[in-house]
Amino acid sequence: MSDPSQPVDLVILGGGSGGYAAALRAAELGLTVVIVEQDKVGGTCLHRGCIPTKALLHSAETVDIIKEASQFGVNGSFESVDMKAVNAYKDKVVEGLYKGLTGLVKSRKIEVVAGHGRLVSPTAVEVDGRTIEARHVLLATGSYARSIPGLEIDHDTVVTSDDALGFDQIPASVVILGAGAIGCEFASVWSSFGAQVTIVEALPHLVPLEEESSSKLLERAFRKRGITAELGARFERVEHTSEGVTVHLEGGKTLSAAMLLVAIGRGPVSAELGYDQMGVEMERGFVKVDAYCQTSVPTISAVGDLIPTLQLAHVGFAEGILVAERLAGLPVTPVDYDGVPRVTYSHPEVASVGLTSKVATERGYDVVEATYDLAGNGKARILGTAGAVKVVAAKDGPVLGVHMVGERVGELIAEAQLITNWEALPVEVAQLIHPHPTMSEAVGEAHLALAGKPLHSHS
Ligand code: NAI
Repeated sequence: MSDPSQPVDLVILGGGSGGYAAALRAAELGLTVVIVEQDKVGGTCLHRGCIPTKALLHSAETVDIIKEASQFGVNGSFESVDMKAVNAYKDKVVEGLYKGLTGLVKSRKIEVVAGHGRLVSPTAVEVDGRTIEARHVLLATGSYARSIPGLEIDHDTVVTSDDALGFDQIPASVVILGAGAIGCEFASVWSSFGAQVTIVEALPHLVPLEEESSSKLLERAFRKRGITAELGARFERVEHTSEGVTVHLEGGKTLSAAMLLVAIGRGPVSAELGYDQMGVEMERGFVKVDAYCQTSVPTISAVGDLIPTLQLAHVGFAEGILVAERLAGLPVTPVDYDGVPRVTYSHPEVASVGLTSKVATERGYDVVEATYDLAGNGKARILGTAGAVKVVAAKDGPVLGVHMVGERVGELIAEAQLITNWEALPVEVAQLIHPHPTMSEAVGEAHLALAGKPLHSHS
């Protein structure tokens, strides 16, 4: 434990992705660090988000592989999903990572104080009567699954993703409100597990912030899987029935199911934590920061889902590292939010980085684009996956964005990220040789097409 009479260099309120990344980097740079955490270090990502949901998605993929095995000449039959065993596998993955993370935190001599903390001065956090003074405070209290006014989460038939992670039975039917990453990932899991799934989305497309062609490809794939989508549909109210719920949409349409999953976004955890009392400027509950994650109070920074940037674990990591390095006196560069890779891990996956063609046009670029259909890619054919890679570039200029749909495209986005963030020209990427036969060739082929020399595609 740090000497309570001496201020530490950094006290961090919240030990999720943003908070713990800042702690690890700050400690590495020689700063003394205390994390105040009321639950478990690792936060939403490790315990209720990225990791457990991707474990569920892997179990779901295994179901699909067994069900589709005959297509590859393998005979076998699907029997059942044992949700207790699925959860045990998922929990074991989380437990293993949690153990590793706590070991890492300990090895860097970071003190973790268990309890509910509050900001009590521009340089102090109080937890269970103990005041931790620091030269700098980092707010990293994250987010919660939000709902709509009047739509009450009862954690039984109207649930959030937190509830859905702990189910020991698969619901026979589900209505999912919201077709962002959470809605589409759970739709994918439950459909693979045998549930009848209907997604309700207010905007005209699934994953509506993605390139429109990616949304359409996902919609087609989901339709083929028997997942129903009510697009451009506004939720009106939910009625509880003996079978579960009936969801009423504006316009009079009703949908009945055993359960309603509310996945309409995550709100910041910032209420009653002393932020506004200490003069930290807020907006709709989010803490406002500058490009260096500094709040309106110079001794206080904020990172992660609490600030109005992309709510992604890897963004939290980047913001946490930026703050740690800034406090240690290193030169830092603001996070380039356009350059952050985004992946929805549904079956099929949707991955993107950089600008959509719509945003690029709005920003004044003269846009050129090329789409490579995975039907022409050998490995995609072998795997039996459909989809495409689309590249958006400035006319006679660099690649501005890459948008993909298909199995395993989440693993391809790392290359697309280098291309986009290094502002590569399509002709430069066209020069790079991709290994054959891999899905990565589709990235190469899209750039070959854009460079005016398509190989395995019709120009
Ligand atoms: P989201 O904001 O991504 O999507 C919510 C969707 O709900 C939007 O498309 C919105 O138009 C729709 N919606 C809102 N109100 C509605 C209404 N009344 N009726 C019908 N539709 C309505 O939020 P989501 O999916 O809950 O995820 C929360 C955050 O967590 C996001 O920032 C997301 O990117 C992140 N996340 C990322 C993952 C990943 O990277 N794979 C996985 C899970 C979450």
